[in-house]
Amino acid sequence: MSEKSARTPTDRTAERRVCVIGWPVDHSRSPLIHNHWIAEHGIENAVYEKLAVPPEEAEETLQGLDARGFIGANVTVPHKETAFAAIPRHDKMASRVRAVNTLVKTDEGWEGRNTDGYGFIANLKEGAPDWQKNKPAVIVGAGGASRAVIAALWEEGVNDIRLINRTRLKSEKLAGDQGIPLLVVDWENRNQALPGAGLLVNTTSLGMKGSEPLDIDLSGLSKEAVVTDIVYTPLITPLLEAARARGNPIVDGLGMLLHQAVPGFEAWFGVRPEVTPALRKLILDDLGQKED
Ligand code: ATR
Repeated sequence: MSEKSARTPTDRTAERRVCVIGWPVDHSRSPLIHNHWIAEHGIENAVYEKLAVPPEEAEETLQGLDARGFIGANVTVPHKETAFAAIPRHDKMASRVRAVNTLVKTDEGWEGRNTDGYGFIANLKEGAPDWQKNKPAVIVGAGGASRAVIAALWEEGVNDIRLINRTRLKSEKLAGDQGIPLLVVDWENRNQALPGAGLLVNTTSLGMKGSEPLDIDLSGLSKEAVVTDIVYTPLITPLLEAARARGNPIVDGLGMLLHQAVPGFEAWFGVRPEVTPALRKLILDDLGQKED
């Protein structure tokens, strides 16, 4: 091979490069997940890396992925909304949620997708296959994660959604943006939203290591209702612990993280990967946690 044709760091055409873009990005487990699948499927010349991008450079970076040789990307906090604005083509979920977590280079150009809701539903179905979608779902929180969860539940056919948030205005904005008829519940009345529900979801960071727990009284909740949390550090949050103690089925949040990665990997590398116990253990070990 002549020196001229040897691959240099700037000639990356032979590589299938993908990255996760965030700020900070060090905490992201996406490289662990995708590199596990890359190795498992023996995908050659594939590289998945972290790209730390400050907010003032986010738009330019997102629009310049081609020039850097990327064929895809994940987008994490705080750039999901910027990605939605910077990339004009969206899939249905990204349009609903108005945020993008997965970028795919297609024949028609870059497309922004949102797979967070898919990850939520896949995790719920795996952890609680008997979950009753004909009963009301109660969602706590009205941030980005809540948008994805609500859009996915709605697409799944759940048409009675009660939304509890500390700031009522944010719930109302979410309902308006998504065009979904939600029942907006004031924070003070949160316990009263539980009777009759088939599902309770915490989408806030309350209960995360270092945060205060979600203060909610579960006594009005049916024991058949599934309780799930998007927080996965700790794996069993105080909410899940309380629900489990009274006999409710619970689903921890780690599976959402794992499942949301599946559609991106499939789009970039043409293989649908699986969420296996080995992958779950890999991430749990990295988080310094054990199965409960
Ligand atoms: P994300 O995009 O990860 O969902 P976010 O947009 O910051 O994060 O949303 C955080 C959610 O947690 C919000 O619903 C927030 O409530 P407000 O809309 O009132 O801010 C909720 N939240 C955070 N800390 C809270 C607390 N101490 N008590 C009640 N709700 C809290």
